[in-house]
Amino acid sequence: MNVVLKNIGKKYEGREEFTLKDINLEVEEQEFCVILGPSGCGKTTMLRMIAGLNSITEGDLLFGDKRMNKVAPKDRDIAMVFQSYALYPHMTVYENMAFSLTMRKERKSLIDERVQEAAKVLQMEENLYVKPSDISGGQRQRVALGRAMVRNPKVFLMDEPLSNLDAKLREHMRVELIRLHKQLGTTTIYVTHDQTEAMTMASKIVLMDDGIIQQVGKPDDLYMRPKNLFVAAFIGSPSMNIIQGKIEQGRFISDNGLMRITPTKTHREGLKAFEGKAVSAGIRPERFESGGEYGDTFNVNVDVVEMLGKEKILYGKLDDGHELIISTPGHYQYEGGNRYSFGYDLEAIHYFDQETGERIN
Ligand SMILES: Nc1ncnc2c1ncn2[C@@H]1O[C@H](COP(=O)(O)OP(=O)(O)OP(=O)(O)O)[C@@H](O)[C@H]1O
Ligand SMILES: [Mg+2]
Repeated sequence: MNVVLKNIGKKYEGREEFTLKDINLEVEEQEFCVILGPSGCGKTTMLRMIAGLNSITEGDLLFGDKRMNKVAPKDRDIAMVFQSYALYPHMTVYENMAFSLTMRKERKSLIDERVQEAAKVLQMEENLYVKPSDISGGQRQRVALGRAMVRNPKVFLMDEPLSNLDAKLREHMRVELIRLHKQLGTTTIYVTHDQTEAMTMASKIVLMDDGIIQQVGKPDDLYMRPKNLFVAAFIGSPSMNIIQGKIEQGRFISDNGLMRITPTKTHREGLKAFEGKAVSAGIRPERFESGGEYGDTFNVNVDVVEMLGKEKILYGKLDDGHELIISTPGHYQYEGGNRYSFGYDLEAIHYFDQETGERIN
């Protein structure tokens, strides 16, 4: 089932400002849609409105073509998974998973069928008769998922379901969730502030800031063509390098004059309108080339080198003190305290209007 938000606004009582402003979004059938953004931007508020746990101040919420604004949560055919798994400690895993069906007074045989089915998918068959305190964090997370699955909902709503797990387990559960989604095909709306989760799991990312949608698209779109400086800086780890400058005779000249970039054909047209104006150039850390085979080069005083295995991250400064982050393959030799020369891939430079923050072409 698809979920549509039309001009949705949310104002909490006692707050001056709207927490969500004019949200327009369509989550398509079977999609895995990730709502991403910094803490406090309104992700949980949005999810709770879809679930019916928060009232809607303005606009329309549609499931299919049915307006849902006033429909009670229990009649929405959704299941929500929270960050805190909210399991009942005195009940067994089986009873926890069965809970909503038991409350609905479903037939025992149907409950058993659903719980066994979910347990099988989640590989929890052997843990059905123990208490939540006797299983690991990852397994508890699976129970919380199982509890949502047995209801056979039309939509899964998940609010940072992996954030209580350690890094290894989180990676593992990420893959499990994607597999589960492939298997069940249930429309899923998943909230996180972790861009890696968003990039790896989403078929569509909705990136928000301060109650406003900044960009909607596939992970690739947001990474390759960020619409504005906020998206450019938020997506990617380490972050994109942003250098302030202006356009002079068609070239980008950084404020300190240390970087002089001749834009390629791709960018030249769009930059024409910005002659003499303040523009920022964005370069992803992995788009630098050691030695500088691209022609234009500049020197970086590298002070810290982080070895991450498959990549090395270099933290350094240009001669004027402007900080740069450069990512290179892990087997390249770099050491802190040295000066190195780099070139960059001209095609991979992103230009932004400093006044509006918007991407230029
Ligand atoms: N019940 C409430 N009453 C008033 N203000 C609220 C209420 N719930 C949330 N807010 C405010 O709304 C804004 C958005 O909160 P929300 O919990 O939706 O953010 P979030 O994106 O989920 O953040 P996080 O990543 O920290 O979970 C915050 O400024 C928060 O203080
Ligand atoms: Mg939240």
